Parts: sequence; C-alpha cells; structure tokens
Amino acid sequence: MEKVLDVRDMVPKDRHPKIFGLYNSLRPGESFMLVNDHEPRPLLYQFQVEHDGEFDWWTLESGPEVWRVSIVKRERPNPDITITDYLQADHRRLDTIFEGFKNSVKESRWEDAAKSFREFSLGLRKHIRIEEEILFPVFEEKTGMRDAGPTFVMRTEHKEIQTLLDQILGATEGRDALGVESGSGSLLGILLDHNMKEEHILYPESDSFITGGERAMVIKKAQAA
Ligand SMILES: [Fe+2]
Ligand SMILES: [Fe+2]
Repeated sequence: MEKVLDVRDMVPKDRHPKIFGLYNSLRPGESFMLVNDHEPRPLLYQFQVEHDGEFDWWTLESGPEVWRVSIVKRERPNPDITITDYLQADHRRLDTIFEGFKNSVKESRWEDAAKSFREFSLGLRKHIRIEEEILFPVFEEKTGMRDAGPTFVMRTEHKEIQTLLDQILGATEGRDALGVESGSGSLLGILLDHNMKEEHILYPESDSFITGGERAMVIKKAQAA
C-alpha cells in the first residue's frame, strides 16, 4: 500500500519540509501519495531543481478541491531518461490502474471502480495532451511530417480513445457492467496497437531526433503539463 501524506491541515511553512523529509526517507523504487488543497506546482519545480532525474511525478487528481500526486523515487537516478522510457512507464502505470478498475467492476465495487476510472481517465488525457502539445510538435518540426505522418494517425486514434473514455465513465457511473465491458473491449483494442506503435516507432524516432538537452526539457514540461 502506497504511503499517504495529507498536508491539507498543516500550516504552509511546514508543508515542504515534511514532504521532502518523507521523500528523503524513501528507498529506491518506493513512492508516496501527496494530498493537497491546491495544485502543487511550486513543489514540482522545487523537486525538478533539487532532485533532477531522481523522481517521477504522476497526477492522480487535479482539483477543484483536492489534488493528489504520486511521487516516486526512481530505482536509479536517471537525468538522461529518454522519451521512450518516460512515456512507456506512463503506459505501464495506466495499464495497472485500468486492471484495478476492471477488477473492481468484476467484484461490483462501484465506488472503487469510479475512483480508479477517474484516475485512469485523468492520467490518459494528460498523457495524450503531453504527446499532442509537447512531443508531436517537436517530431513534426524535425521530420517535416504533419498531415500524412505517424502523428496524424496518433491524433486520430486519440480522438477515438477520448470518446471511449467518456462512454466508459458514463457506464461506470450508471453501474452498467455490460456497458463497461463493451467500452473497455473497444478501448483496449485501440490502445494495445496504439501504444505499441508509439513505443516501437514514434518514441524511439523522437529520441533519435531530439538532442539530450531538448529531451530533458520535454520531460520537465511533461511533468508540469
Ligand atoms: Fe498516444
Ligand atoms: Fe502514449
């Protein structure tokens, strides 16, 4: 079970020391979930300066009242992490949340299911935004491929994915197990192939075009997206 640090009742000046204290006590590969009452953006920037390449930052809930972030101490510090490593890790993380969601539905734990699905949907929409707004423009500029290239195909599939996310959310909120099952089947059908194309073609190609410094910039922007 992931550790939880809820700082909402702490006075502001105590919050960052508490958070960094807990982070420093983690063993490599461990994580904790931070619960806060505002978007912890200044905290992210402080992590990027003080722990560059040592941590992952995954948003689980993004307001309007509660913000939750999973902060992971990487197994190995990796300031030169590639786009492939970073976005592939996000695919795996989202796969795990989706598995948990399906198990909750199977056992009719609808509240857990809805919570997992909201995390999944938020994470996947953010992932898509990172690709479309941060990565693809760099890829398109470097290769000159826009309207007929791989990013065009990915953008089209993203639209289908987002439609299915709305559909599954509706079915989950309506506690409609059959609707969830059919939506999930369609979603996984697209995602499996989509992620494979990204992991085997688009991400490695991006890594080969983009220089080390630009790559670090892309990943920092992705964390803050
Ligand atoms: Fe994608
Ligand atoms: Fe992706």
